[in-house]
This record gives sequence, C-alpha cells and structure tokens, in this order.
Amino acid sequence: MVASRSQLTSWQALKEQAQGLKNTHLKNLFAADPSRFDTLSLAIPGVLFDYSKQLVSEQVRDTLVELAEQCDLPKWRDKMFAGDKINFTEQRAVLHTALRNPGTQAIDVDGVNVVEQVHKELAKMAAFVDKVRSGQWRGYSNKAIRDVVSIGVGGSNLGPQMATEALASYADDTLQVHYVSNVDGVQIAQVLKQLNPETTLFVVSSKTFTTSETMTNATTAVRWLKEAATNDDAVAKHFVAVSTNLQKTAAFGIADENVFTMWDWVGGRFSMWSAIGLPIALYLGFEAFTELLAGAFEIDEHFCQAPLAANIPVLMGLLSVWNTSFLDHRAQAILPYDQALHMLPAYLQQGEMESNGKAVNFAGEPVPYTTVPLIWGMTGINGQHAFYQYLHQGTTIVPADFIASVQPQADIDGHHDVLMSNFFAQSEAMMNGVDAEQVRADLQQKGVDEQQIEALVAHKIHQGNRPTTSIILDKVDARGLGRLIALYEHKIFVQGIILEICSFDQWGVELGKGLAKNIESELRVQRVGEHDSSTQGLMAYYLTNRQ
Ligand code: F6P
Repeated sequence: MVASRSQLTSWQALKEQAQGLKNTHLKNLFAADPSRFDTLSLAIPGVLFDYSKQLVSEQVRDTLVELAEQCDLPKWRDKMFAGDKINFTEQRAVLHTALRNPGTQAIDVDGVNVVEQVHKELAKMAAFVDKVRSGQWRGYSNKAIRDVVSIGVGGSNLGPQMATEALASYADDTLQVHYVSNVDGVQIAQVLKQLNPETTLFVVSSKTFTTSETMTNATTAVRWLKEAATNDDAVAKHFVAVSTNLQKTAAFGIADENVFTMWDWVGGRFSMWSAIGLPIALYLGFEAFTELLAGAFEIDEHFCQAPLAANIPVLMGLLSVWNTSFLDHRAQAILPYDQALHMLPAYLQQGEMESNGKAVNFAGEPVPYTTVPLIWGMTGINGQHAFYQYLHQGTTIVPADFIASVQPQADIDGHHDVLMSNFFAQSEAMMNGVDAEQVRADLQQKGVDEQQIEALVAHKIHQGNRPTTSIILDKVDARGLGRLIALYEHKIFVQGIILEICSFDQWGVELGKGLAKNIESELRVQRVGEHDSSTQGLMAYYLTNRQ
C-alpha cells in the first residue's frame, strides 16, 4: 500500500525542520549567509525567481525536493504530458500543455492524436481572426465588425479577460473586446448600451454550453440583436461559440462551422490556450496569441527538463505546501506591481482554489493536513494603501508573491522607478520588520520626547519574518504573460500531487448549481418549496418585495 503523504520520511523530516525554523527570524538567516540570494534564487529566460525571503533553509529546500521525489512527482508530470487520464474522478486526460506544443509528435487520447486536432483548430482560429480583423467578416447589414462581446464565466471568462487586460497596451483599435460573465443584468445592459448591433460579434464561450449564467446572457444577446436585425441569418453572422458540446450549440442556433472546438481534456481554468482564448486573438491579432502560447511552451519545457531543485514551478508548489501544511499559514497574497496584471489575483483564485481547495486524497480519505491556502490580492500599490497594514502588523501571517517586470508597458518619466521602489521596499520590510530598538532610535533622532516614545514603541514595532517570493519578468508582453501563467499552472499541479489531491475536477461547485436550478423554478412560479427556515424566509421576503 502506498504510504499516506504525512507518513513519508521526508514529510516527517519537514515537520521537525518546521519546528526548528518557527523560532528563526528571516533577517538572521540573511545576516548569517551573505550569499543567500544566490543560493535561493533562479533565473531562466525572461523570469527571475527569488525565494530567499521564504522561511526556508537549503536543508528544507532539499527535503522538499525529496518529498517531491517520494511523491513520484516526475512520474505524474510525465503522465500528464503523455495524456494519461490523471483526472481519474472524471476519467479524463489533462492536456492543456498540448494546446501550446508546437511539435508534431503525436499524443494519443482514446486513439485520437490530439496534437493534430489542436493544430487544426488553431488554423481555424487564425483564419477566423484574420477574417474579422481585416473586415471581411460582415454583419447583417454588410458592415465590418467593430466590437466583440465575450460571454462566458469562470474558466471561460477569467483567462481571456485577464490576458486582454494584461496586454491592452499592445492592441490596435481594430476591435474592442468586452466581457460579460455575471448573470446580474446590469453587466450585459451596460455593455450593450454602448454597442451597435450591426457591428457587434458575440463569442459565447462555454465548455459545456449548459452553464445557466452564460446561457441566460447569450439568450439576452440574441434578443438584443433580433430587436435590430430582421434578417434570418443575423444570428449566424453575429454569433460564434467555443464549446465541446456541438449538440447544444446547434440547438442554440449556431452553425457548426461557427463553433470552435475544445475537448474534455482541457479543464476550464486551464483553457485560455484553446479556442477559449479567441477573444484575446481577436483583440491583439493571432501573432500575439501565438506568442502567448510560445511563452507557456517555454515553461512546459523547463518544467519537464530542469532538475527538481532548479525547477521554478516545482519550487513554487513545494513552497506553498511548506507554508500551508507545515508552517500553518492559511492564506496567500498575490501582489502584482504591474497594473496590466490587475486581474491576476482573481484568475489565480480560480486556478488554485478550484483545483486544490479539497479535503480528500486520491483514495477519497480525509487528508490529515491543511491543503491549499486562501488566495487573494490586488495590485501591490493599491493594496499598500488598503490592506498592507494587516500584512505588516496583523496577527495572521500571509505569505505573498510579489510580481513585477523590468520593462514597463508605458515608459512615462520616472513612474517605473517609483513603482519598483515600492516593490523592493515592501518585501524587504515584510522580511526585516522593525524592532523596538530601531523604533526608539528613529523617534529619538526625530526629537520625540522619551515619554511619547515609550507610548509609541509597541505600536510601531513590525515583527517582520513575513515570507515572500519575488518574481521579476522581463516584461508583461504576450510571451512574458504566457510564461507567468504556465508557471502558476504547473505550481498548481505540483501542489496537487504533493498533497495527493485530484486537482482537475471541481465537484464542490456542483452542489450550489443544482440547488439554484431548483430554486429558480420555484421563483418562476412564486412558490417556496421545502427548505430550511432561513432559506424559506429569505425567499419569501424576496418574493413579497420584488415587485
Ligand atoms: O464554476 C464552475 C465551472 O464549472 C468552472 O470550472 C468552469 O470554468 C465554469 O464553471 C464555466 O463552465 P462552462 O465553460 O462549461 O460554461
């Protein structure tokens, strides 16, 4: 029988090492070893990864790597890349890596070469993007398309929208892209009111084509179009879909040639490299989309080839397990010092929490350790003026990823150095903190009287010892973004294997979906069914007052 993770010798050793390090301050580790940065950082083309401000020693790093070996991480990684059905609760392969593999070597899933399928679909996307961007694709009144509305939610929205926002600096004004994900009518109403139906193209993205929020928004969009267009073929000229479900797309009225395929081996939250990324390609051109894929492929190669101890996504996953399962830090902040990455925290919330926010191991037994942390964050500068107080002096320690780039997207005199000064300063402050002696010396130097100093000291102490990782990209361009996202994708995979969690299903979102369906029918007929008294009371209040 395979030993549970917590019985592995490396796991036990890490538990002891964690006890030892809990009484160690990061600043002392730096003081003791002037070459700490050199030892605990890595550079690959386009990415510098510094984990020297994590509360680890070389010994911990090596034991974490041993844990990865004892968990057969390389074997699992190779299974994923080869198309084995590692998503075993759904009997599916996990092959988002095939979406960006430029090679021709076949990968077989159920006797079908997926590489061929991927390249065929990419060619279809490229031709379509060219047709729309060049103005050959015409709307019902023979006008070229000016606006694209992407309708989708979760994995069918977050990736494309995050990438669109991240790369907006590189867009020309051929097309504007808008996103509708929320079924709250206010979102679609606000988007549609700016648009002309004659020149608007809708991309309805849903892997299943059954997601009620997306279908509701898509139906509203059809109604809006038909209010303006009387032509029978208006829907065909203004709607395309991205889905695995050809029956449903046809039933919705979208011709097969206007459907871009994805496959069950692409998980929603890993799907921006597939046709789900169509809005990105429409916005930026297909070349930029190819660059995005190329950046991700570079990281796939690194993940497959670099030794575990020098493998950035492996270390990212292991450090997360270290912080959460051993040091008991239950939250993790994502702090981009790059406005272009403002949606990254939301994107990674789905990536990490929908993948690994689970409590049973491969065999379905409860795990005896904390799994993944709560992921949250926002751009660093805005966060500094909002929640960093908590990060510096709160009672809960929140490890953080700081992400920045060497080259700004907009080089406006002086701005980037101000931004980067904050990036460097914040992680330094979180690591070092300020002790009572330093606070006193500072206040004395400012001429504050002794009585006041004593009243203030405790309030001004920063404990420091807050673990952070710093990632510096060359630039947030399509290739750089591809690299960054693929790093996090593989981090999530590593976490899943180490924690023995099936990362590629999401049963936890099904319960609420099912209940909402039933409740929706009750609301339609204005009858509150069998529920607990709170739910009944809330529904009754809503029904009584909604007019
Ligand atoms: O929220 C749950 C979820 O199933 C996600 O995993 C998925 O990305 C999203 O819904 C959208 O699903 P679909 O692409 O099938 O509409």
